[in-house]
Amino acid sequence: MSDVTPEALIDAARLAASHAHAPYSRFAVGAAVLLADGSVVTGTNFENASYGLSLCAETVALATANAQGRLRDVVAIGVVGGAITDAGLAGDAPVRPCGRCRQILNEAAQLGTGDLAIHCASGDGTTLETHRLSDLLPHAFGPADLGIG
Ligand code: THU
Repeated sequence: MSDVTPEALIDAARLAASHAHAPYSRFAVGAAVLLADGSVVTGTNFENASYGLSLCAETVALATANAQGRLRDVVAIGVVGGAITDAGLAGDAPVRPCGRCRQILNEAAQLGTGDLAIHCASGDGTTLETHRLSDLLPHAFGPADLGIG
């Protein structure tokens, strides 16, 4: 198991958030996926002029891990986000994955370790809380229900 701390994951997520394409919401989110060997894969939100086609940071990070053949190796994710200001990301509320991202996280969880740690930080850096995916998305439907895993 790796020794990458939640704080280090949030640092990686915050760096990714600096590349957010979020001209519509002006709300930047970064995500950093921790793999079993200690490597980290990041993503940031990627908005679209059609609004509804926008991609969340967590989904982008997980799709990138999958593109590296590592979907089954995900053990944790760090998420940070906030309103974009000249001084950085604002707000003391931790950003927790949206419902769609929780379902996508569950794909990695059921195919891999069975549960994930979700570290959620606020933009201003004052708050960091940790959840289990099984608490954020209880009784989830997933690949196991289709006999896949
Ligand atoms: N967003 C994420 O990337 N992840 C979340 O967990 C919550 C929301 C993005 C979507 C949109 O680009 C912006 O934040 C505002 O909703």
